[in-house]
Amino acid sequence: DWTMGAFRAEAIARIRAQVGEGRVICGLSGGVDSSVAAVLLHEAIGDQLTCIYVDHGLMRAGESEQVVSTFRDRFNIKLVHRDASDLFLAQLAGVTDPEGKRKIIGRLFIEVFEEEQQKIGGADFLAQGTLYPDVIESVSATGGPSVTIKSHHNVGGLPAHMRMKLVEPLRELFKDEVRALGRELGMPEAIIGRHPFPGPGLAIRIPGEVTRERADILRQADTIFLEEIRLAGLYDAIWQAFTVLLPVKSVGVMGDGRTYESVCALRAVTSTDGMTADVYPFDMGFLTRVASRIVNEVRGINRVTYDITSKPPGTIEWE
Ligand code: XMP
Repeated sequence: DWTMGAFRAEAIARIRAQVGEGRVICGLSGGVDSSVAAVLLHEAIGDQLTCIYVDHGLMRAGESEQVVSTFRDRFNIKLVHRDASDLFLAQLAGVTDPEGKRKIIGRLFIEVFEEEQQKIGGADFLAQGTLYPDVIESVSATGGPSVTIKSHHNVGGLPAHMRMKLVEPLRELFKDEVRALGRELGMPEAIIGRHPFPGPGLAIRIPGEVTRERADILRQADTIFLEEIRLAGLYDAIWQAFTVLLPVKSVGVMGDGRTYESVCALRAVTSTDGMTADVYPFDMGFLTRVASRIVNEVRGINRVTYDITSKPPGTIEWE
């Protein structure tokens, strides 16, 4: 892609001019934006860049391993992987309020990130994968009367005591342009084409209390749903697909026995920007196949429903 080739060269020159000999840290989430930012930065400044991956233990199955192997082994990027799942789960114990969960996760994220950046001796710059729509959204969020529906912790500055200069090489780009840039940089399709995933991870897909056990159950259901979506060739036609583990038990029958287990909801939507969304019209055969696999293969779930709410009035996530 000619345009992205030119952008790449220009962005690299700009990063070098801004950073000079300085040290840069970048928070990696496994998502498209921070991943592309990290690879671009690495191309510009090599080992002056260290990435920090704060693992809250609420990622999908295999995701942390994939992040580590992609960035460390394939791209040779200096990467700190901090497994902080015990800390996050301990602080989330007993918390059921959606905003409460988001605030705890956001705060811990910053705390752990800061700890790790001090361990490596600090840095002069903090790199972020901020996109153009993030810039607009955070400006309008502070510029006028507006209602905060959900507090995102990804955008919106550092605490005052973490005063590093910001490097935001993707600030002018839209999501599709970030994807094109990632391809231009030779990044694997598994990262580039990946569905969006919220910063608080599976915590906001477990209404009610988040426990390790419930996160494990959810991960198994999620894996089955996405496996079937990929098998059916539908992954790229869908903006986001995931499962939600409901804090509701229902009665079922399995063999000769009665079961009393949790209900799981499937969610799949089409969207262009996440601001509005429509339910994905799966055929009934697909849905029943997924439901029977989940109920048969995942211990702890005995009923599956499909969420057919569009946004608005629903949001994409349940919390
Ligand atoms: P909602 O649920 O508000 O979500 O319709 C719109 C899009 O934003 C994602 N989302 C988040 N992304 N940090 C993020 O980076 C967050 O805290 C967060 N909360 C929701 C959601 O997955 C959807 O793509």
